[in-house]
Amino acid sequence: MKRISIIGAGRVGLVVAACFAKMGNKITVVDIDERKIAEINSKVSPIAEPGLDEILNEFEIEATSDYEKVIDSEAIFICVDTPAKKDGSISLESITAATEQISNVLKCRESYTLITIKSTVVPGTSEEVILPILESSGKRAGEDFGLCMSPEFLRGGRGIEDFMYPARIIIGEHDAKSGDMLCDLYQVFDAPIMRTDLRTAEMIKYASNIFLATKVSFINELGNICKLLGIDAYEVAKGMGFDDRIGDKFLNAGLGFGGSCLTKDLKALIARAKEIGYEPKLLEQVLGLNERQALKVLELLKRHIPVRGSTIGLLGLAFKPGTDDISDSMAITIAETLTEEGAKIKAYDPLAMHNFQKSFPWLECSTPEEVLNCDAVVIATEWEEFNRLDYRGKIVIDGRRVPKAREARIYEGICW
Ligand code: UGA
Repeated sequence: MKRISIIGAGRVGLVVAACFAKMGNKITVVDIDERKIAEINSKVSPIAEPGLDEILNEFEIEATSDYEKVIDSEAIFICVDTPAKKDGSISLESITAATEQISNVLKCRESYTLITIKSTVVPGTSEEVILPILESSGKRAGEDFGLCMSPEFLRGGRGIEDFMYPARIIIGEHDAKSGDMLCDLYQVFDAPIMRTDLRTAEMIKYASNIFLATKVSFINELGNICKLLGIDAYEVAKGMGFDDRIGDKFLNAGLGFGGSCLTKDLKALIARAKEIGYEPKLLEQVLGLNERQALKVLELLKRHIPVRGSTIGLLGLAFKPGTDDISDSMAITIAETLTEEGAKIKAYDPLAMHNFQKSFPWLECSTPEEVLNCDAVVIATEWEEFNRLDYRGKIVIDGRRVPKAREARIYEGICW
């Protein structure tokens, strides 16, 4: 059993805390949000992530805002958010504030502590920003404390599974002793471990998310061409996927990628590249194409109905099925565009209606039946239950390939 502290009770921090608790470690979670702290201490997860409530219930996890509680920890994981600023670069406000607190803790700690950054930070941040703050404690990295950067590859809605059964573990290390200690903590996992330096580990995180985003924009661009040529982009992707150099994953054409990670990471690396004098043309196109993709809904709707004055049903608000997260959801672009064009929207989502209405109170939420009774229906998220609805007699613009929707009187796929 090790004493481990997790700084930040967001999606990554909570999953890491829960999984290390499940593995028999003593866990303290530190956050500045008293509401989250109270929820965790009463064994309720502050976020909707499958499996978290069960683990919080079964294992002892202490949540606090008091960094004094971190003093006995042998390992500290920094999992705070690094949100996007207006110019696309990331804000280091939370991570520097947390690091300053850890630096104060280090001053009072006699024995060696391993500090691992799990927050997504642009290459160079651990060495140029985090390390100097930690060393301002008077303690030296590699001697008094260890420093690693180990990015997380947790998908929303499947975080526990992705943490427990990782495809790979990346350990960026300041020095070999730091890396050895993190390897030791991770030895329970059956996954290849790659050890590298801090900035390479930071880049691997961006490269992975951006490559996924690139696959989606690639297949969407191809899909747009396919649609004009009367070809089904899904058949094309299937044919490509047999080649294992290409693979068959992440080639589902549609409305494009949403969520709090892919767009944010793309923008952050674009900003970082520009900062160092490089024009990242491909990355800008990947982003630009994604921003344009959802606008195709309007173009397709206009082929069949006058949008102004119509009521459009919107099926799906979450950025993907299985979550209540609406960050950068394509449903936002669709709802805003159609409203600007003079349409009225009625929307339904199994989990995300509450979140959507908090940010967009003008949106009318309704039942699936009422949504289907609108002048036309747009499918923005591929929830399983949408494949059980009765689309007969309707006009449907399908942005996510829901097979049953093909029964509609008029059916248009975005890229097929
Ligand atoms: C993503 C990565 O997949 C995780 O590996 C990473 O750890 C995480 O970001 C993160 O950085 O925290 P997530 O944002 O949960 O995970 O979402 P994904 O499952 O990757 O889906 C992203 C978007 O791409 C969704 O809107 C989805 O509908 C869209 N997508 C995905 C497509 O349009 N087509 C596809 O073929 C696949």
